[in-house]
Amino acid sequence: MKIRAALLTEPNGKFQIEELDLQNPGPGEVLVKLVASGVCHSDWHVAIGTTKHPMPCVTGHEGAGIVKGVGEGVTNLRLGDHVVLSWTPDCGECFYCQQNQPNLCETFTEPIWNGVMLDGTPRLSWNGQPVYHYCGTATFAEYTVVPQQSCIAIRRDISMTAASLVGCAVATGVGAAMYTANVRPGETVAVFGAGGIGLNIIQGAALCGASQIIAVDTNESKMAIAKQFGATEAIFANEGSIVAIQEATEWRGADHVFESVGAPHVQEFAFEAVRPGGTLTLVGLAPMGTGTNLPGAIMTRQEKTVKGSYYGSVHPKRDFPMFVDLYMRGKLKLDELITREYRLEEINEAYQAMLSGQIARGVIVFDQ
Ligand SMILES: NC(=O)c1ccc[n+]([C@@H]2O[C@H](COP(=O)([O-])OP(=O)(O)OC[C@H]3O[C@@H](n4cnc5c(N)ncnc54)[C@H](O)[C@@H]3O)[C@@H](O)[C@H]2O)c1
Ligand SMILES: [Zn+2]
Ligand SMILES: [Zn+2]
Repeated sequence: MKIRAALLTEPNGKFQIEELDLQNPGPGEVLVKLVASGVCHSDWHVAIGTTKHPMPCVTGHEGAGIVKGVGEGVTNLRLGDHVVLSWTPDCGECFYCQQNQPNLCETFTEPIWNGVMLDGTPRLSWNGQPVYHYCGTATFAEYTVVPQQSCIAIRRDISMTAASLVGCAVATGVGAAMYTANVRPGETVAVFGAGGIGLNIIQGAALCGASQIIAVDTNESKMAIAKQFGATEAIFANEGSIVAIQEATEWRGADHVFESVGAPHVQEFAFEAVRPGGTLTLVGLAPMGTGTNLPGAIMTRQEKTVKGSYYGSVHPKRDFPMFVDLYMRGKLKLDELITREYRLEEINEAYQAMLSGQIARGVIVFDQ
C-alpha cells in the first residue's frame, strides 16, 4: 500500500514528507494505522547522526494506533485492537527475557539496530529502494508494519493521543524512577533535564513517594511545568546548580540523581550532585562514540553507583496497561505533557519547538 511518511535520507536534520510503499505484514507481523506519535529527542539523534542508523529511514517510536492487519501466525491480536507500540519487542525466550530483562531482549537487538524485521528485510521502500524502520516501529507514518511483540493492546476508553506517550516518555521516565533506580518513599531526587523524559522521571519519583524532587534545566519555561509534575524545587542549570542541590539536601547531595539530557558534560556534572552511597541513573542518550569521565577514586571511596536505564527497565506487556490505568484514575499526568499537536507535515516545526524548549512534548496526530 502507499503511505505518507516523514523520511530521513541523510543525517541533515530535515524530515521530508514522501509517499512510500509498505508491504503487507509477514508471518508474526502486524499492520498498524497510527493515530498519534510523540516527538521524542531520540529520533532527533538519528536525524542529526549522533545515533547512527541505516538510511533512508522512517523514525518515530512513541506511537499508538489501531490494528488493521495481521500476518500468518499472529494469534494474540485482533483487527481493531488499540495498541501502544513498544520499541523493545521481546521474544520471551532468550537469556535476557529469562532474566526478567525483556527490554534487553537479544533476539530483536540486531534487527532493530539494522532497521529491519526479524527476517532481515524492511517492509518499507521508496522508488523501489529499501527504507529502514527505526526501532522497529517507524511511527512517523500513516501506517506501519511491526513485529507482533511490539504491539501492546490497551483498553479502548483512553485517548490514543495520550496513550502514545506511554510508548516512550512515560515508560522511559516513570520506569527509570520506579524500576531502574527504585526510588523509595522519603528519598531525595534531582533530575537534570526536564523535557518529555525528565518530566516523567519527576512524576515517577513523586509516585514512588520521594520527599524532595529538584528539577534542573537550562530553560526557564521548564521550571513551572516541572513543579506541575511534582518537583518540589526547580533550579536554573548553571555552574551553581550543584551547590544549590547540596544546600537543598543538608549538604549531602541527593539519594538519586538522573541525567535526562544526553550530554557527557551533564552526566559528569550530575555525578557531583549524588550523595555518598547514592545513585546516578543515566537516561539521556549521549552521542554514539563519546565517553564520559567519571572519577573512579570518588566513586569507590564514596560508594556512588552509576546505572544506565534503557526504556526505564520496563516490561511493556505488564507495565503499559498499568500506566494507562494510572492515567485513567488521575494518578499519572499525560494531557498536561502535550503542549501542542502537529500534523505530519509540520514535523520539522515540531522538532524545532522541542529544540527551543518551548514545549514539554509535541505529538503528531494523523488524519483518521
Ligand atoms: N534511555 C532511554 O531509554 C531513552 C528513551 C528516550 C529518550 N532518551 C533520551 O533522553 C534524552 C531526553 O529526551 P527528551 O525527549 O526529554 O528531550 P527534550 O529535548 O524534550 O528535553 C531535554 C531537556 O534538557 C534540557 N537541557 C539541555 N541542556 C541542559 C543542561 N546542560 N542542563 C540541564 N538541562 C538541560 C532542555 O532544556 C530540555 O528541557 C535524550 O537524550 C533522549 O534521546 C533516552
Ligand atoms: Zn528475548
Ligand atoms: Zn523516545
